[in-house]
Amino acid sequence: MSEAGATVPGGALDRGAAQIVSVGAYVPPRVMTNDELAQIVDTSDEWIYSHTGIKARHVAADDVAASDLAVEAARRALDDARINPGDVDLVLLATSTPDYPGLPATASIVQDRLGAERSGAMDLVAACSGFVYGLATASAFVDSGQAGTVLVVGAEVYSKIINWADRNTCVLFGDGAGAAVVCRGVGRGIRDSVLHSVGSGAASLYRPAGGSREPCGATTEPDRTKLHMDGRQVYGFAVQAIIDTVEELLSRNGLSIADVDHVVAHQANVRIIDAACRRAAYPQEKFFKNIREYANTSAASIPIALSEMQTRGLLCSGQLVVTVGFGSGLSYGGNLIEWI
Ligand code: ACO
Repeated sequence: MSEAGATVPGGALDRGAAQIVSVGAYVPPRVMTNDELAQIVDTSDEWIYSHTGIKARHVAADDVAASDLAVEAARRALDDARINPGDVDLVLLATSTPDYPGLPATASIVQDRLGAERSGAMDLVAACSGFVYGLATASAFVDSGQAGTVLVVGAEVYSKIINWADRNTCVLFGDGAGAAVVCRGVGRGIRDSVLHSVGSGAASLYRPAGGSREPCGATTEPDRTKLHMDGRQVYGFAVQAIIDTVEELLSRNGLSIADVDHVVAHQANVRIIDAACRRAAYPQEKFFKNIREYANTSAASIPIALSEMQTRGLLCSGQLVVTVGFGSGLSYGGNLIEWI
């Protein structure tokens, strides 16, 4: 048992543990401001900012796909950890905006472009919860000894699946990617994960056409291939999902919110985070927020946030970090991480 680990409330790990050894992020250079959006749809900077906390988002060029963003973020994380792509055992790519519909897995494209020659690769579809599902999966592979090094990437290009004429959705999303390298270490690491699904809410956030339920054909209305959302229903679900996830991770690890240094919740809307803090009496300052610049980047939002926190020196060794993802599915969950 490491000395530092023993100081952490809730009991330190006494065995090898999956650890996040590095994080990295990449967003496309093109920035679209709210004012620019207001020239396309009937909206305003004032409405968007006051209802969401968003000021701008990054938007991928027409010829850029999820794998392009994923490769950049993954390279940054691997370089930071000084890990050779050839040493990666598994590439897990969380995305709802794959390069191709269903097959091949975008993870395989990323694996090839990275030169991760002996790695397995698979996509993980859990929408905005994708990264926390990815960390939970990586953790299970590493803890069980099935893998030594897992690359977990969240990469999204929602600009390609939103209806740019629908002001209810198009103002909310942005493109980007974030990655984490998960390796086996001793002491600190990913201490716990919780994953949940409320599939009865599936129709509140989905793309009606383009899958096997409603394949695209000559008569398919283009809007049915785009994202549809019942914003109010998702809002109510999301606020409770944050509280339930934090409470479950805390209670099963014998912790209180006072023991936690940072909560990194999916960046969907600052009002969702603020409402959860008010309802559960959580200290607002523990919740990291960067949605202002990026909007909602779905599975990429948490690793982009972690990368930014790392760059800004906010993440210190021994700190406890809780991640919370929530989104289409409806899915939610989180990870309890003791930062190395
Ligand atoms: N600009 C101007 N007006 C707008 C806009 C806009 N972009 N969008 C909606 N409005 C209007 C509506 O038409 C409505 O007008 P009306 O009263 O005349 O009918 C009014 O603003 C209020 O609309 P509401 O839907 O009540 O606005 P609300 O305060 O609920 O905010 C929002 C809407 C931001 C979408 C909120 O419900 C929300 O954040 N929901 C959660 C969304 C979310 O997080 N989705 C992603 C989940 S993650 C994933 O898996 C992808």
